[in-house]
Amino acid sequence: MKKRIAILISGGGSNMVQLLDSLTADHPGRAVLVVSNVPGAGGLEKAEARGVATAVLDHRPFAGDRAAFEAELSKILAAYKPDMICQAGFMRILTAGFVIPWVGRILNIHPSLLPKYKGLNTHARALEAGDHFAGCSVHYVTPDLDGGQVLGQAVVPILKNDDAKSLAARVLIKEHCLYPLVLRRVMTGNAAPVYLT
Ligand code: GRF
Repeated sequence: MKKRIAILISGGGSNMVQLLDSLTADHPGRAVLVVSNVPGAGGLEKAEARGVATAVLDHRPFAGDRAAFEAELSKILAAYKPDMICQAGFMRILTAGFVIPWVGRILNIHPSLLPKYKGLNTHARALEAGDHFAGCSVHYVTPDLDGGQVLGQAVVPILKNDDAKSLAARVLIKEHCLYPLVLRRVMTGNAAPVYLT
């Protein structure tokens, strides 16, 4: 019986596409739903083109009432009975009220070498700090923002003429390798962290 995976997005969904394209053949998981908090997000049509159900839950009408937004999100998810959730470019912070029942079954990809640079603007911060390396991390989602157990990382050298845009583009390529690899490892019971260079 394949495990059912829901993917949360907010934008173009390039990580979602990589996950969808990996969830085939002998992979223990199958994507059952893609949810976007942004109407018209580019990832929605990419999911539909791959025959995956989609839903939109615009966060704006909830006017900051996170609990109400999450209650509606839970309702949408419940209809598809996911076993796991993958956040992939999902830009909303989920509260403990939503996350705690999913701990151990909800993953995220973050564009930094955690625990460095939790939160936003990770590449600009790495450049500002004069770091020589950047990268991305896949981690379990917990109520501690970007603080869950790291399951995999990919390291990207920072080049002398890098700006946040050029660095983000190279990190994104590594995200596309890391996330499917980690998801498959976790779903086959291997939560030992993996490191890509
Ligand atoms: C990218 O900045 C990526 O680093 C982060 O989310 C953003 C959008 O990713 N994970 P995607 O193309 O929507 O997957």
